[in-house]
Amino acid sequence: MILIKLGGSVITDKTQYRTFNRDVVSRLCKEIKDSGEDVIIVHGGGSFGHVLAKEYSLQDGFTGPEQVPAVARVQHDMRELNLMVIDELLNAGIPAISVPPGSCFIIDEGKLILDRPEIVLSASRLGIMPVMFGDAVFDRSKVFGICSGDQLMEALCGLYGPNKAVFVSDVDGLYEKDPKTNPGSKLLAEVTSELLERVSGGGSVDDVTGGVRAKMEAMLRMTAPERECVLVNGSVPGRLYSLLKGEKVISTTAKGGLR
Ligand code: IPE
Repeated sequence: MILIKLGGSVITDKTQYRTFNRDVVSRLCKEIKDSGEDVIIVHGGGSFGHVLAKEYSLQDGFTGPEQVPAVARVQHDMRELNLMVIDELLNAGIPAISVPPGSCFIIDEGKLILDRPEIVLSASRLGIMPVMFGDAVFDRSKVFGICSGDQLMEALCGLYGPNKAVFVSDVDGLYEKDPKTNPGSKLLAEVTSELLERVSGGGSVDDVTGGVRAKMEAMLRMTAPERECVLVNGSVPGRLYSLLKGEKVISTTAKGGLR
C-alpha cells in the first residue's frame, strides 16, 4: 500500500487565509483513483492551519488565555478543509471518512502517541479511507500543540508498513539551494542525511511545523529497504499518477535513514 500526504502548499493557497485549491485537489484525487493503487491519504493545513497557528504560537503550547479561541478556530478551519478534501475523494469514487487526529492521538511535548489505532484500522479494513490531517491537538505536558501531517505520516507508516510514502508538494523536490533566491539551483534526485546537512534547509516563514528540513528529516526516518519515500510536485498534472504507477518522474527520493 501507499501512504500519501497532500501538502498544504498544493491543496491551499498558503498566502491567503482559508483558500482551497479545489481544482488541483479534484485532479489529484482522480489521479489517485485512476492509479488503482491501495492508498491512504493524510493532508496538511496550508492557509487553513498555519496562519492562525503562527499568529497565536499554538505550536509552543499554552502560554496565555488569548490563544484559546484560536485553538478552537484552527480545529474548525481544519475540519472544513478536511471535508472539502473528502468531497473531492467521494466525487472521484473513493469512499473516505474524516478522522480528526485528536480522536486517536494525544501528543506529549509535541511527540505523537497513537492512543486508539482501532479507529483508522477499522475504516481501512472495511475499504474506507480514513483521512487524517495536521491539526491543533491536546498535549499532556503543554496543554495543546500542533500535530503536523508529516508526523501523522510517520505514525501511519508504523501502523501500515507501506511500500511507498509520497509527499505531494508544490515544488519539484529538494534543491541544493533555495530556488527562489538561487535561480538555476540543482534539483537533488536523491537525498541522504549527509547531503541534507550540506544543503541550506530554511523553511518558509509561515510554517509552524518546521518547513522543508523537518519534512526531509521525517522522510529520512521513514525510509526502509523495502520502502521508497518520495517528494513530488502535485501542481504538475499527471506527475503523481505516474509516480504511483511506478514510473520515474522528477522528484526527490530520501535514502538511507536519518543519522
Ligand atoms: C499543519 O500541518 C497543521 C496546522 C498548522 C494546524 P502540516 O504542517 O502538515 O501542514 P502543511 O502541509 O505544512 O501545510
